[in-house]
Amino acid sequence: MQRRHLIHAVGLTAVALALPLAAQAQDNVFKIGLILPMTGQQASTGRQIEAAAKLYMAQNGDTVAGKKVVLIVKDDTATPDVTKRLAQELIVNDKVNVIAGFGVTPAALAAAPLATQSKTPQVVMAAATSSITEASPYIVRTSFTLPQVSVAMGDWAPKNGIKSVVTLVSDYGPGNDAEKYFSERFQLNGGKVLDKLRVPLRNPDFAPFLQKVRDAKPDALFVFVPSGAGSAVMKQFLERGMDKAGIKLIATGDVTDDDQLNDMGDGALGVVTTHHYSAAHPSAANKKFVEAFQKANKGMRPNFMAVGGYDGMRVIYEALKQTKGQGGGDALLAAMKGQVFESPRGEVLIDAQTRDIVQDVYLRKVEKKDGQLYNVEFDVLKAVKDPGKAK
Ligand code: DHB
Repeated sequence: MQRRHLIHAVGLTAVALALPLAAQAQDNVFKIGLILPMTGQQASTGRQIEAAAKLYMAQNGDTVAGKKVVLIVKDDTATPDVTKRLAQELIVNDKVNVIAGFGVTPAALAAAPLATQSKTPQVVMAAATSSITEASPYIVRTSFTLPQVSVAMGDWAPKNGIKSVVTLVSDYGPGNDAEKYFSERFQLNGGKVLDKLRVPLRNPDFAPFLQKVRDAKPDALFVFVPSGAGSAVMKQFLERGMDKAGIKLIATGDVTDDDQLNDMGDGALGVVTTHHYSAAHPSAANKKFVEAFQKANKGMRPNFMAVGGYDGMRVIYEALKQTKGQGGGDALLAAMKGQVFESPRGEVLIDAQTRDIVQDVYLRKVEKKDGQLYNVEFDVLKAVKDPGKAK
């Protein structure tokens, strides 16, 4: 009788102890759901951001404010329906504290309503259409916007002998932004836009469009295509002898992407682009970042996507620290707003009003350094806000 009681009591105690322990273990975990295109046309974006997020955690530890930080990586193949399903599962089943990543604009937009409904901060590390931050008050962006970098080219080109252009952009959000903001600024400065061409995002064939450009004979062709598509543009531009026909290539830095640039060949030398990050950015912080990234990833060179991911992790870690591990979505979001810090790209600010990133935009030219092709910065516009929000 006594023994039965004892066994019963011990059993109960074990259950009673086990439950709070399990709950406690959950409480001590901080989960980040990282949704990225790990396969398909945008896979380089996923590869770069995952590597950068893991580097940030390796450098800064996985315990923050008493919580164990857990990264859950999901492949959405850059398909918005998949992004939405994954975001839902991460929020409802895994109970993540933050969703992050988002390789393309449609993916970021697909997750936005879920971030709003569940009050989960959504850190956009890649997608770059201006309007994304307006899709949810829970979005914070650590990448860039196409207006931010395109306006800089609209100022530089007419001052450097380029009086007429044709624009060529991928036909979706960021391409439309690049076309609009570059063209408006270029025309304001007296330039002529002879034609505006849009190529499909999926499996684009640039040949027929480049033929049109040749026929129009502009001083330059202005291009935006997403990360991963730049080398195809460069190859066909050179194969068709556009440069020899006296047409210059100017672009946002997505085209001379550090992930691909070194394989583009000497034909890329001299191409001028505007962007917020170059692996050749000459700061001590960037040298440290590039070295560590390459060491951890078999020599892979970090691109602008990697920096968006690295800084996104910084913003999340800092918010977790500031809220002492006790905050819900609203507290975390509040702690993300207004952060100022030195990124590998230079000093950045998360604008508290817009939740978008304010950063330096660089003029760069492709040059050879130590036998490798780099985007070498030669001028800078300081602390550029997204012009898409300055309404
Ligand atoms: C987007 C994707 C890219 O790969 C890029 O370089 C810029 C913008 C986007 O879909 O928003």
